[in-house]
Amino acid sequence: MSSPAARPARKAVIPVAGMGTRFLPATKAVPKELLPVVDRPALEYIVEEAARAGLPEVLMVTGRNKAAIEDFFDRTPELEAALEKKGDADRLAAVHASTELAHVHFVRQGEAKGLGHAVLQASAFVGDEPFAVLLGDDLIDARDHLLEHMLAVQAEHGGSVIALLDVGRENIDKYGAVAIEPGDHPVVDGDEVVRVTGLVEKPPVDEAPSSLAIIGRYVLSPTVFDVLRDTPPGRGGEIQLTDALATLVERGEPVHGVVFSGRRYDTGDRLDYLKAVIRLASERDDLGPPLRSWLHEFVADLPAEGASPS
Ligand code: G1P
Repeated sequence: MSSPAARPARKAVIPVAGMGTRFLPATKAVPKELLPVVDRPALEYIVEEAARAGLPEVLMVTGRNKAAIEDFFDRTPELEAALEKKGDADRLAAVHASTELAHVHFVRQGEAKGLGHAVLQASAFVGDEPFAVLLGDDLIDARDHLLEHMLAVQAEHGGSVIALLDVGRENIDKYGAVAIEPGDHPVVDGDEVVRVTGLVEKPPVDEAPSSLAIIGRYVLSPTVFDVLRDTPPGRGGEIQLTDALATLVERGEPVHGVVFSGRRYDTGDRLDYLKAVIRLASERDDLGPPLRSWLHEFVADLPAEGASPS
């Protein structure tokens, strides 16, 4: 029988049960995952990323008030018929694209008991294979290939692989932080590959093992499910995926990190969300040229920091 590590990952899990408190009141009635980044929901970029990396089976772990997410990935025959009648081929293609990206499945988390608990809800769907977890707040630029690198590292070493980013020591308390094996590390397509020797969820800045933070991409061994079942609530009283990964390291299972060198947008933070929308829109063929020229004028007219706008 082949070991789980020898099988390529085919499935992706996307936890979408979070309450989106940072975007209230917008998220009172609209799931934060459906807030538009330019003209597409943030979640569509994430599903697209999974599909592009060769993961056609996607499980969303949802919660209450998230029915709109199921609607988004479902067909809309009335809307499609109306667009067809109008001859609006571009919009029809855009509407189709969201339903054809991947096979999207849903499971409910029931209670919001943390990221580890959300991932545990995927155990029946995943079975005995390595799988990816993508968190919706982190957008990875489509021109960078973080998930593909991580899948290749997992195929080579087995075990689990997490995405890392140097966020600077002053910001590390907002993330899972890692300790890594010292020494020279191989670089694959610009991203360093490191062996992880310890993990801690949101440590105080002066206790963090490094300034390397976990960003929202994981390729996990299915052994994580057994560990998660026995993982007690940790930081914030929640079952933490970071704690389960720390247990895997203690047991001697390989956990590698891919230190991302590309473009990442944090759409979970209001300021970074605005930056992501502006940056991505300014690079688009349709909106980019007029937006860029408006931005130049806008910036030239901005009062200096500290002065009040006229
Ligand atoms: C989660 C993880 C954390 C990770 C972060 C990345 O935290 O628990 O380890 O660094 O995602 O975005 P959350 O942002 O859900 O609090």
